[in-house]
Amino acid sequence: VTIEAILLVGGAGTRLRPLTVHTPKPMLPVAGVPLVVHQLTRAREAGVDRLVLATSYRPEVFRRELGDGGVVGLEVEYVTEEVPLGTAGALRNVADRLTSAPDDPVWILNGDIISGHDMAAQLLLHQRTGAAVTLHLTEVADPRPFGVVPTDRDGRVSAFLEKTAEPAGNQINAGCYLFRREVLDRIPPGRPVSVERETFPHLLDAGAPVYGYLDDSYWLDLGTPAAFVAGSRDLVLGLAPSPALPGTPGPALVLPGASVAADATVDGGSCVGAGARVDPAAVVDGSVVFPDARIGRGAVVRHSAVGRGAVVGDGTRLDEVVVGDGARIGAGNELLAGLRVWPDAVIGDRAIRFSTDA
Ligand code: GTP
Repeated sequence: VTIEAILLVGGAGTRLRPLTVHTPKPMLPVAGVPLVVHQLTRAREAGVDRLVLATSYRPEVFRRELGDGGVVGLEVEYVTEEVPLGTAGALRNVADRLTSAPDDPVWILNGDIISGHDMAAQLLLHQRTGAAVTLHLTEVADPRPFGVVPTDRDGRVSAFLEKTAEPAGNQINAGCYLFRREVLDRIPPGRPVSVERETFPHLLDAGAPVYGYLDDSYWLDLGTPAAFVAGSRDLVLGLAPSPALPGTPGPALVLPGASVAADATVDGGSCVGAGARVDPAAVVDGSVVFPDARIGRGAVVRHSAVGRGAVVGDGTRLDEVVVGDGARIGAGNELLAGLRVWPDAVIGDRAIRFSTDA
């Protein structure tokens, strides 16, 4: 039998701007390959053969990079929403492309997650319980930014609670679901629908069996700049498992075609993309340097992302900064604390500091 999955990749990735101005979040380079490739490689290992991508924002980038799916060993088909239909609307919109029978399980994957969870165990639970939907759940230290999903002793979901300042528990929806195929066909067509706010609560109200598969292995939603940088770092260090890592885990991943000066320091789980250059005495720590970017002599780049073809000038210091594609930051600047530099912006030499120059 063919095991099918739907990959939700239509979001605009606003929290990650300006990295997502040219590239949709799921296609940003993370530890040397597009973010979704880590997840798709795991999905293939878990038995998925055929994938339907629900695209909307910049669909051409997916087609260009993933093509017929051969790079990830999957048969791939693309569907594009002219107007984003929300997470469940997107599922309904691609449902007629599935070949699965009504009772067959279909995987639903979010395009912005790195997860080491046991997909085979999630599938077993789904089959054993005969669930309509089985969600992967994970426990997080701070559940406030998430919806909380409590379960009973057998793993049956008892509620879907919206995010609040005082969440009841710390078990959250980890964004990887198994749906019985016919449940997808019953989502209302032709209008925006949210799977989290509408479909899941409706299933519970209707008494449908919805189960949670709790797994405490590595999990991260790479939706924010800090999480994006952390996710790449964890993959490079080997803290996050991925069969798609183009190299062995270690303090740094320098892609073929990148050049790092002998006395530069690249560590802390940094990744230096193909064609990028790190000049002498520079320090790159826990950061993502996109392909063709350049880090100048003596520059210090910590916990930051430097976009494709961007330039960080000599002696410039970046800490928790996002630099858009093609931006040019002159020498002797100091950019910190979540600053975002837009693509192709030009910042002169010694133009911006946080601290005094004394
Ligand atoms: P933000 O704008 O920063 O919140 O990011 P996002 O647009 O990606 O939204 P979010 O992280 O909530 O989305 C979770 C997953 O669903 C991502 O993989 C998105 O690409 C995807 N997604 C969100 N909305 C839509 C939609 O309307 N259509 C489709 N096809 N996918 C969507």
